[in-house]
Amino acid sequence: MGASPQTILTTQRLVLRRWQESDRQPFAEMNADPRVMEFFPNRLTREQSDRLVDRIEAGFGQHGFGLCAAELRSDHSFLGFIGLSVPNFVAHFTPCVEIGWRLPARFWGQGYATEGARAIARYAFDSLNLDSLVSFTTEQNIRSRRVMERIGMTFNPADSFDHPNLPEGHLLRRHVLYRLRPNEFARP
Ligand SMILES: CC(C)(COP(=O)(O)OP(=O)(O)OC[C@H]1O[C@@H](n2cnc3c(N)ncnc32)[C@H](O)[C@@H]1OP(=O)(O)O)[C@@H](O)C(=O)NCCC(=O)NCCS
Repeated sequence: MGASPQTILTTQRLVLRRWQESDRQPFAEMNADPRVMEFFPNRLTREQSDRLVDRIEAGFGQHGFGLCAAELRSDHSFLGFIGLSVPNFVAHFTPCVEIGWRLPARFWGQGYATEGARAIARYAFDSLNLDSLVSFTTEQNIRSRRVMERIGMTFNPADSFDHPNLPEGHLLRRHVLYRLRPNEFARP
C-alpha cells in the first residue's frame, strides 16, 4: 500500500506527516509538561497549543514545508514534531529556515529526534533545494544541542545571540545557533 497523501517522509521507525485533529490532544499534553517545556518561557494551555497547530498548518500552506507531526510506525503513537520552520523575528542570521523538534518525554533517549531530523535535513537539501539550515536553542538545552551535533550541525560561539522575544535579564535569553550546509551533512 502506498504512503498516505498526508505523509511527507518515512524513516525506519517514524512517519513524518501533516497534522490531524487527533494530534491536538497528545500535543497539548506534551506542551503542558514541565520537562518538555523546561527551556521555553511558558508551558502552553490547550488553547495555545491548538493555535500552534493552526499556525504550523498555515505555514505548510505558505511555505510548502513545516514542522511535521511525527508518529511511530509500529503503533502509531504521537511523537510530537520534527521539521522545518521560518523564524518570525529579526536577528543576524534571519531570514532563514530552522530545523526543530519537540517530543513527549517518554519517547526521549531512543534516537527518534535524530532519526527524524536527519531525514528532514536530507529532504530540505535534496527536495526543497535549501542551501542552509539553522537551529537554535537556549545555551542550557544540552539534549537539543546534542541532536544538532549528531546530525552534523556546527556551532560558532560568535553566532550566539539574545533572543529578541525575551526580556533583558530573562534566564533563557541567551541562545546558541548551529548551522548546517548540504556539503557538511552526512546523508542517512
Ligand atoms: C531535544 C529532544 C528532542 C531530544 O530528544 P532525545 O531523545 O534526547 O534525542 P534523540 O532522539 O537524538 O535520542 C538520543 C538519545 O537516545 C539514545 N539512543 C537510543 N537508541 C538510539 C538509536 N537507535 N539511535 C540514536 N540514539 C539512540 C542516545 O544514546 C541518546 O541518549 P543520551 O542523550 O542519553 O546520550 C527532547 O529532549 C525534547 O523534546 N526536549 C523538549 C523540547 C525541546 O527542548 N526542543 C528543542 C528546542 S530548540
